[in-house]
Order: sequence, then C-alpha cells, then structure tokens
Amino acid sequence: MKVPCRIVAEVLAVVLERVAPGMTTFELNQIAENEVLKRKAKPAFKGYSGYPAALCCSPNNQVVHGIPNKQPLRDGDILSLDFGAYYDGFYGDAAVTVPVGAISSSAARLIEVTSKSLDLAIASAMQSNRLSDISSAVQTYVEANGYSVVRDFVGHGIGRSLHEQPQIPNYGLPNKGPRLKSGMVLAIEPMVNEKSYDVKVEADGWTAVTVDGGLSAHFEHTVAITDNGPQILTRI
Ligand code: MF3
Ligand code: CO
Repeated sequence: MKVPCRIVAEVLAVVLERVAPGMTTFELNQIAENEVLKRKAKPAFKGYSGYPAALCCSPNNQVVHGIPNKQPLRDGDILSLDFGAYYDGFYGDAAVTVPVGAISSSAARLIEVTSKSLDLAIASAMQSNRLSDISSAVQTYVEANGYSVVRDFVGHGIGRSLHEQPQIPNYGLPNKGPRLKSGMVLAIEPMVNEKSYDVKVEADGWTAVTVDGGLSAHFEHTVAITDNGPQILTRI
C-alpha cells in the first residue's frame, strides 16, 4: 500500500503547486489524472459509483465530492482537494484544504484547526486504543475551537477496496468499537464546518455543501497501524 499512497501524495503535491486565482478545477483534475497515469496507476474515484472525475474539488462551502468545473478560482477562496490512486491491487486516499491566494484569518484558522484535528486523530490511531478514540480526538479538539464536525460522511478502512470496514466517524465517545491492531490501514478524514454541521447534497447527486453556507475544510491521510505506532502512508 506504500506505492499507491506515495503516488497519491506526489500527485497532490503537483496539483497544489498549480492552485492559484484564475486556475480552474477542471484543469487541476486534468493535471491529477495525467500525473497518476504517468506513474502507471489509476485514479481511484473516476467511475466510482459514477463519480465523473479523478480529483474531488470542493471550494468554500462545499464539504466533499465537488465536481471539477471551468469556473476560475478566486483570490480568497479555500479549496479542498481529495485524491485516490489504485496500483497493483491496492488503494491510497488523501485530502487537503489549501488557500487560493490571500485568505481571511478566519478561513486560515478553520484550515489550521481541521489539519490539527487530523494530526490528533492519527496520534490516537495506535494499538491498545479503540476505534472511537480516533473519533473522539477529532470531535473534542474541533468543538473546543468553536467549529462543528460533519456527521454525514466518515473515514474508512482501505486496502484492496477504496472503502472497507470499519467506518470511522469523526465524532463519538472514546473507548468504543473494535480494538486497533497492527496491520490495519485506515483512511482518517475529518470534515469540519465553520458553523453548523448540517450538510446537503446538491442536484448533481455528488456535491455536498453546508446548509448554512459556512466554510468547510477537509484533511485526510491513509494511515497504517504498526507495532511502532501510526505510519502515515500518504505523506511525502
Ligand atoms: N476520500 C473520499 C472517500 O473516501 C473520496 C471518495 S470520492 C468518490 O470517500 F468519488 F470516490 F466517491
Ligand atoms: Co477517503
């Protein structure tokens, strides 16, 4: 799984360099698809349940699963990018939220808190802990910072399929669910809203947006649980 995960990290790194005002998510998707094919891997999302693109691009109030389009990004936007790769029988999956040009300090703080919530979740993904310790780590930190945790989408096991058991909610009480064991690989992905956690899916059947129009951020890593603690597979 190190290979598809490294490819995901590399592709996202190339895409991130190109994020700027005036760029379109349509072009970012093309870059992602070219980069993954160059590495002899396949885009994991394209065609998954009918999703039409390689890269999920979710600006501002979009939470996840935004479909790339030709509307230019604008200075001050935030943009969530989610990418998966398939290589030699295995999947990798990661996401990141980045600023487009100069963003407000409140948008920057949302990104910071969401990113840190993933770090805390990963730190709790170790043997001897139980699954909901990951969930609880996210919720506690996010809510202490005045934001809300999206309920309608979850992290997941990952391996020979993109989505495997267990589901990993980003909220819940600690010390519940299965015990974490060396050899498990999890895609941990907190989605955090500035205001209410309510989301709805738009008429295209994919784009999830905040109901109140507030900003949303998303970070994800594919993480292996090992005897030496969590190992982030989608970090370069
Ligand atoms: N990272 C997301 C997930 O784990 C992206 C999936 S997009 C889809 O579900 F198109 F593949 F559904
Ligand atoms: Co995922």
